[in-house]
Amino acid sequence: MQSITITTPDDFHLHVRDGELMRLVVPHTARRFARAIIMPNLVPPIVSTELARQYRDRILAAVPSDASFEPLMTLYLTEQTPAAEIAVAKASGFVHAVKWYPAGATTNSHHGVQNIEKCFEVLESMQQHDLPLLVHPETTDPAVDTFDREAVFIDRVLAPVIRRFPNLRVVLEHVTTQQGVQFVQDASSRVAATITAHHCLLNRVALFEGGLRPHHYCLPILKREEHRAAIAQAATSGHPRFFLGTDSAPHSRTAKEAACGCAGIYTAHAAIELYAEVFDRLGALDKLEAFSSCHGADFYGLPRNKTKITLERTPWQVPESFSFGTDTIVPFRAGGPVNFQMVNGSAIPSKAGI
Ligand code: DOR
Ligand code: ZN
Repeated sequence: MQSITITTPDDFHLHVRDGELMRLVVPHTARRFARAIIMPNLVPPIVSTELARQYRDRILAAVPSDASFEPLMTLYLTEQTPAAEIAVAKASGFVHAVKWYPAGATTNSHHGVQNIEKCFEVLESMQQHDLPLLVHPETTDPAVDTFDREAVFIDRVLAPVIRRFPNLRVVLEHVTTQQGVQFVQDASSRVAATITAHHCLLNRVALFEGGLRPHHYCLPILKREEHRAAIAQAATSGHPRFFLGTDSAPHSRTAKEAACGCAGIYTAHAAIELYAEVFDRLGALDKLEAFSSCHGADFYGLPRNKTKITLERTPWQVPESFSFGTDTIVPFRAGGPVNFQMVNGSAIPSKAGI
């Protein structure tokens, strides 16, 4: 197959930050995707519908004029979130979910949740209003090995919460393990998972290839080969409760190449093309559209997009970096080839062909 045309996809897990960096990255996503679930872990975090409204306006102002892109906003759950905020969020029409970061689990999560029981009233209200809970499923218990944090969190923390709120819609964000995949497969139709392109393409060997590779460091951390294979298999299986969420997470080169570098891999510049590579390698390009453009919209109760994009099997070279302000970001595959190219996006052809 030399080219494939699919319904314009949605990204159900995206970090766009704010300010100059946001203005650099939003056009990359807006060219490829019609909508994206926007993560709320700014400094300070997006804890209310009003903050989400203001952030949404700033994102919309960064969308190129010839693109059509809708940011789907989320709230950052804290132990102080008032249960009454859920009705306000639902009524807004632009808040589509609430994100649960275990405190200390990842970037800008220190305002997150230490004890989820303190949020049970909020979860009750989310269940009533049918507002999905998006989970960063990793324990912060320092006694638990970094590579085991997802599986342990699912067992100890998430499974009991799901049992207590059986009608709450829950998304395990960026699932990375066989155990996570199995958990979703065994769960009710209210439980789903997003899958990133980078967790399908890389295993943990990529962290240490010829030296320490900060641009392959993300959370949850890359796992062993058998886990990578399990999530790539889940993504390409056609199962309706696995869908696309890039977790594209830009950080400046300075923040990545540091003694204590930030977690996050930037993939928005080539996101749908990278997923196409994953599906192509497994002979499953015919399943790409369902994963990228149908399952997520269906789970969130959103209409499927009406427009199309076309990807061609034409290799192109990713730039070494993208500039913003006085710094740069180093994208996934920097300087290397991507096998698929978008020939018509929902938006702009940019200068670098990106
Ligand atoms: O690698 C990551 N980066 N994982 C996350 O959970 C957060 C994200 C970020 O915001 O940088
Ligand atoms: Zn994320």
